[in-house]
Amino acid sequence: MYRSRIIGLGHFVPDNVVTNDDLSTLMDTDDAWITERTGIKERRLIKKGSGEGTTSMGVKAAQMALERANVSKDDIELIIFATLSPDLYFPGSGVLLQDQMGMGTCPALDIRNQCSGFVYGLSVADQFIKTGMYKNVLLVGSEYHSGGMDFTTRGRTVSVIFGDGAGAAILTRETDATKGIQSTHLYSEGKYAEELAILGPSTQRWIPEIVADYDEDDMRYHPYMNGQLVFKNAVVRFSEVIKEALHKNNKTAEDIDLFIPHQANLRIAQFVQKKFGLADNQVYNNIMRYGNTTAASIPIAMSEAWAEGKIKKDDTILLAAFGSGFTWGSALIHW
Ligand code: UT7
Repeated sequence: MYRSRIIGLGHFVPDNVVTNDDLSTLMDTDDAWITERTGIKERRLIKKGSGEGTTSMGVKAAQMALERANVSKDDIELIIFATLSPDLYFPGSGVLLQDQMGMGTCPALDIRNQCSGFVYGLSVADQFIKTGMYKNVLLVGSEYHSGGMDFTTRGRTVSVIFGDGAGAAILTRETDATKGIQSTHLYSEGKYAEELAILGPSTQRWIPEIVADYDEDDMRYHPYMNGQLVFKNAVVRFSEVIKEALHKNNKTAEDIDLFIPHQANLRIAQFVQKKFGLADNQVYNNIMRYGNTTAASIPIAMSEAWAEGKIKKDDTILLAAFGSGFTWGSALIHW
């Protein structure tokens, strides 16, 4: 059986930098609260009317990943697109990206696993490559959160955390079993589906009903998050799924060259770092600059870490994520 290996990473974030102080002009919040609770100092948000969106950001990240991998778009046999903020209700962002990139007729698959979307996508890509069905896979995570967030005091618990951006990876077939993705571990717990969700626009409330009842105070039109419950579950599930990845590969925390957690909240990442006794140079965080970009957060962080020389040949890389669903997962990679 084959392995799959990441041979190129790319990312794109909008130019528009929005600091905590900028947000405090829109809502009752301040830099001290946001920094203390989340570690975030600024995020990138798409400027309304700029024409940028989930797919177009994904295209730019994918182009960078293809270039770095030295792979032509024509060699991609499967597109996997992870997002919770697609341009359209349907069809998915995978086919939109395919069209915008001028790709042929390869299959395009959308993944709806929110903050765990990239790890889920990695696992799906890995299965297709391992069985020999596809050789080269393009995996994209992209999010346009700011279009749907409530930037008033009412929405502050959510809107100070999330940011816009995209990341991408090119995966290819590897014949050396010691190289590439060694294992992936996926979980979900649907009983918490509504604890981090957007409940308004849906097939449960179709357009005539939404238009007839539209009420700007109806919070169902914006993402809802039970922050404390998410936090408590995240630290437990992150720990479990990291332990499982280490155990499965006969590794200890000391063997990890770089741990890249989903950038949910710096406090969650620091809790996990402490729990596993990881040194600062074993963990990569960039939430301070981008906020939580959901499915895009791990590939943006990986792309930056790689460009900074922090992901090198033979390194052991650990990824872990937790988010809406609830869903969570991990992946252990031998670079
Ligand atoms: O990728 C997975 C996605 N999500 C996460 O990982 C998030 C996990 N959860 C968290 O990170 C934290 O729960 C938050 C950072 C979202 C919130 O921190 P918290 O310590 O759980 O705060 P809280 O919601 O309990 O609110 C504490 C206080 C409240 O005021 P009162 O009731 O004590 O007077 C809130 O109204 O802070 C208030 N508050 C704010 N104040 C200033 C809530 N949001 C803000 C804000 N600025 N942005």
